[in-house]
Amino acid sequence: MTTWLVTGGAGYIGSHVVRVLQASGRGVVVLDDFSAGIESKVPDGVPIVRASVLDRVAVEQALRDHQIDGVIHLAAKKAAGESVDIPLEYYRENVVGMLTLLEAMQAADVKALVYSSSAAVYGTPMSNPISEDFPMQPESPYGETKVAGEWMARDCGVANGLSWIALRYFNVAGAASDDLGDPSVNNLVPMVFRALSNGERPQVFGDDYPTPDGSCIRDYIHVADLAEAHVAAAARCETGVRAEAFNVGRGEGTSVLEVMNMVSEVIGTDVNAEIVGRRAGDPPASYAATAAIESELGWQASRDLRAMVSSAWSAWQSNER
Ligand code: WQD
Repeated sequence: MTTWLVTGGAGYIGSHVVRVLQASGRGVVVLDDFSAGIESKVPDGVPIVRASVLDRVAVEQALRDHQIDGVIHLAAKKAAGESVDIPLEYYRENVVGMLTLLEAMQAADVKALVYSSSAAVYGTPMSNPISEDFPMQPESPYGETKVAGEWMARDCGVANGLSWIALRYFNVAGAASDDLGDPSVNNLVPMVFRALSNGERPQVFGDDYPTPDGSCIRDYIHVADLAEAHVAAAARCETGVRAEAFNVGRGEGTSVLEVMNMVSEVIGTDVNAEIVGRRAGDPPASYAATAAIESELGWQASRDLRAMVSSAWSAWQSNER
């Protein structure tokens, strides 16, 4: 049995990854600074190292103390819009954090890494679906930090045999259970819920895009499917693979208006969305080609938009109570 350290394991995605890793029979240790993570999301019995990935000594100690075989690195800042205003905080947390982790892994001779990357590495794609060999042209400091992280992993693969996989997440939504919902309100689904909770109309940022219904198209992926992709990647890294980046999406485009309609169906009443102006920097469409991860890792999403919206709504309501 191998043991994996999950950085950011008390966060929204990390808490799902921890559960799937446990279910796979692997040992799990969580490292989190609790800047965004929530301790109650870490299952009983999972050791917690309360530290930042910027703390080189603490990370190396954790790797040695728990005889870690591989790291799933999720601890990072993730709001693309915010990163434009405070780029250096993103570079410190995401780039220096990754650098520090890789140094600690090298010192402790830990040779497997699953890295949390993002569709943000592609920026506005030249076409859809987006395959992994498309150029990386990030359009925010956040996206730039994710590219830099992939480069660092790649270079360590060449230099010292690090076995790594970068997972480029598309638009993550949903919850595996009510206690694991996304507490942040950065993305479309939680923003719709917050508007509804406040008695406001949810907003559609633009209906004049060159798409069939005029609203933006994205690839929404259930966080439980995403968590399973991490474990498939970890399993592959255990076999010593070198240098791969995979999209993690459903390979299906869904428009903002379709998401609004699904929320209306799930809650049983029309959300009465308001069309407002475009938001700066939004590509009209972005969805994944998924052939590579299907054939290389044997992973495929199994949960649909309804499952995402209904589980997210259930978790949202339970938090409101
Ligand atoms: C989705 C669609 C909006 C809110 C961002 C990051 C990306 C990744 C995921 C981390 C867009 C529209 C939204 C609203 C709306 N993050 N929208 N009304 O921008 O695709 O991706 O999150 O890795 O890096 O950039 O996600 O959820 O903000 O928006 O109409 O109230 O919903 O315009 O078309 P996005 P999002």
